[in-house]
Amino acid sequence: MKKIVILTGAGISAESGLKTFRDSGGLWEEHRIEDVATFDGWRRNPQMVLNFYNERRKQLLTAQPNAAHKALVRLEQKFDVQIITQNVDDLHERAGSSKVLHLHGELKKVRSTVDDNLVYELNGWELKMGDKCEKGSQLRPHIVWFGEPVPMISLAAKFAEQADIFIVIGTSLNVYPAAGLIEYVPDSASMFLIDPNAHGLPFVKRLEIINEKAGIGTPSLVDRLLQ
Ligand code: APR
Repeated sequence: MKKIVILTGAGISAESGLKTFRDSGGLWEEHRIEDVATFDGWRRNPQMVLNFYNERRKQLLTAQPNAAHKALVRLEQKFDVQIITQNVDDLHERAGSSKVLHLHGELKKVRSTVDDNLVYELNGWELKMGDKCEKGSQLRPHIVWFGEPVPMISLAAKFAEQADIFIVIGTSLNVYPAAGLIEYVPDSASMFLIDPNAHGLPFVKRLEIINEKAGIGTPSLVDRLLQ
């Protein structure tokens, strides 16, 4: 069975009503990365960080998978499909994809500040100051912040190396090491990039750019690959 590896970013969830980060009106226009997405920001003002992720979680509870998330599930009829997502939402899982690797953490999980292995599912949207792990330390969002290691990156690189087909959807490829995954894709693999604003990828030999929104471009690419 051929292996399809798919790298997704915030753009795939845009049509589900979740904001991207770097588009105009994106999250990083309203919030400073150093305030809400670094360990220093958490140390300076944990309440501000909790508020930011509580708001994201609240929105996620009302969001639904869109046509792009759903189309990727259909690929499993014919291919071994591995999704690698930079997104912290759970829309791929809710659509029904069976193999999803989260590079940047998961919004619906929280973890201990003294022991990274203590990870919990959060009920509802709100994580509060005073919510503690079993070792008595404050719980934090289970999110990979800027400057923190990305524990899943070596596994993701292994998947990229095994790809017969590699599809990139809705990411500005601005953030490393995630963006560097394309360098692991074998030259023999065909690569597709679905993003209304994509221009091209240097050094990639077999690339097809699909300048469409994910909700349009993904179902039609999936139809083609299943033919
Ligand atoms: N369909 C497909 N792509 C879209 C759509 C859409 N409907 N709307 C916007 N896009 C594209 C934009 O053109 C842009 O290239 O999605 C991309 C979003 O880029 P970013 O906002 O930079 O999001 P992402 O690449 O996922 O960010 C990476 O940065 O801040 C961190 O940790 C955060 O995981 C995130 C990482």
